[in-house]
Amino acid sequence: MKQSGGTDEQKRRAGESAADAVSDGMVVGLGTGSTAATAIRELGRRVDSGLDIRGIPTSYESRQMARKAGIPLTSLTEATPDVAIDGADQIAGFDLIKGGGAAHAREKLVDTAADRFLVVADETKLASPLDLAVPIEVLPDAEPVVSSNLDALGGTPELRDAERKDGPVVTDNGNLVIDCAFGAIADPAALATDLAAIPGVVEHGLFVGVADEIHVGTETGVDVTER
Ligand code: A5P
Repeated sequence: MKQSGGTDEQKRRAGESAADAVSDGMVVGLGTGSTAATAIRELGRRVDSGLDIRGIPTSYESRQMARKAGIPLTSLTEATPDVAIDGADQIAGFDLIKGGGAAHAREKLVDTAADRFLVVADETKLASPLDLAVPIEVLPDAEPVVSSNLDALGGTPELRDAERKDGPVVTDNGNLVIDCAFGAIADPAALATDLAAIPGVVEHGLFVGVADEIHVGTETGVDVTER
C-alpha cells in the first residue's frame, strides 16, 4: 500500500468515526488506502462482535483486507451500498482528488452508488484550492492520445511508473494511469467535465460534490463536516 502523510492515530480516529455510521443490515462500500483500511479493520472487529453487514470492496487491496478482517462481501450486481467509506489524497470543501493508489475508477463507482459517501482523512489532506496532479486511468492504447489532449487542456501529463516492476503502473482493471498537473484547480467541476470527455479516459480522480461527510482525524479528535 502506498504511504501518505498524517499519523496512524489521526487516520484511526477518522476511520473509527466513520465506522460509527454503520449499523446492522447495511451494505458498506469499502475504500482503498491507509485511512480507509482503519475503517475496514474497525468494521471487522465489530463483525467479530456480532455486527451484521456486507462489504463491497473498491480494489483488490480492499477486498483482501476485508477478507482478512472477516467482513462478508457482496458486489454491485447484488446490492447497493447504504454507505461508502473511502479516503482521499486532497480535500477542498466537498471536492476531492483521489487515485493515489490507482483505485479511483472502482472507488468512484462504489462511492457514488452509495446512499451516503463518507470521506476519511487526516489533516494533511485539507487544501484550498485543489492543486495535486489528477490521476487519470486510461485504456493502454489511448495513452499518447489522452496525453496530447491533456496538453491541450493546459495540463502536464506524466505516465505513472510502477515500483518494483519495470514499466508503468497497471490498474486492477488492466489500464494505465496518467498523473496530470494543472496547478491550482479553480473550477474542479469544469475540469472534471473536460477530462471525462476525452476519448480513452476510463475515469479521472476528481470527485466533485459527491461526498456527504468528511471525517478528519486531528491530534486530539475528529472533525466531522456534513453537507
Ligand atoms: C486510492 O486510489 C486513493 O483514492 C485513496 O483513497 C487515497 O489515495 C487515500 O489513501 P490514503 O488514505 O492512504 O492517503
